[in-house]
Amino acid sequence: MKILIASNNRHKIEELAGIFASFSLPIELISQKSYFGEDSPEIDETGATLEENAFIKAKALFEMTQMPVISDDTGLEVYSLNMSPGVISARYAGEHGNDKANREKLLHVLTMHDNRKARFRTVLHFISHDISFSAQGICEGVITKEEAGDKGFGYDSIFIPDGEEQTFAEMDSSRKNAMSHRAKAGIQLSKALSAFLSGRYPHD
Ligand code: IMP
Repeated sequence: MKILIASNNRHKIEELAGIFASFSLPIELISQKSYFGEDSPEIDETGATLEENAFIKAKALFEMTQMPVISDDTGLEVYSLNMSPGVISARYAGEHGNDKANREKLLHVLTMHDNRKARFRTVLHFISHDISFSAQGICEGVITKEEAGDKGFGYDSIFIPDGEEQTFAEMDSSRKNAMSHRAKAGIQLSKALSAFLSGRYPHD
């Protein structure tokens, strides 16, 4: 089954491809860019939660293409900031997708707080004809006082997962994929996908 990944973020797509490759499911992931080319649409994230945004993106792409779709909406939730930036993680500093400005703002805001505990949360949503389900993955950790590492993307260079000494941006992708929020959501979604593909979902 060909599944469209509802994202124009190449980092996310690479991570999801690596995660789903390890489950040997009979699926082929197609990126939005390879489907639409340079005119690949950017779906507005108008939802109030990660769950809503994941659903909005999956549904919009399914309606455009009639292909099965997986979407990903991810947020960084900081405990001392009432779990913000959360759903507005991509536009925390104002401009959508300015990762550097977002990281700098968060490091600045956290100079006023002692508790630096945070978590990444990913919601993956699968949608196809007459079927729609989602899965969540959480990775707990702390926000560093300064950036470290040049791998990964987004907030990776200021996040150290619990039990680790390096930020996600200091790890290679296979190490991040062994513990990340996205990988945990991917495991859950893969179980449901596997059941669906073999005709057992939603009865399992
Ligand atoms: P979205 O899911 O594309 O809306 O991403 C929300 C924000 O979180 C963006 O600023 C991304 O760069 C960031 N982000 C998403 N996933 C990750 C991740 O795995 N590591 C670090 N930052 C991420």
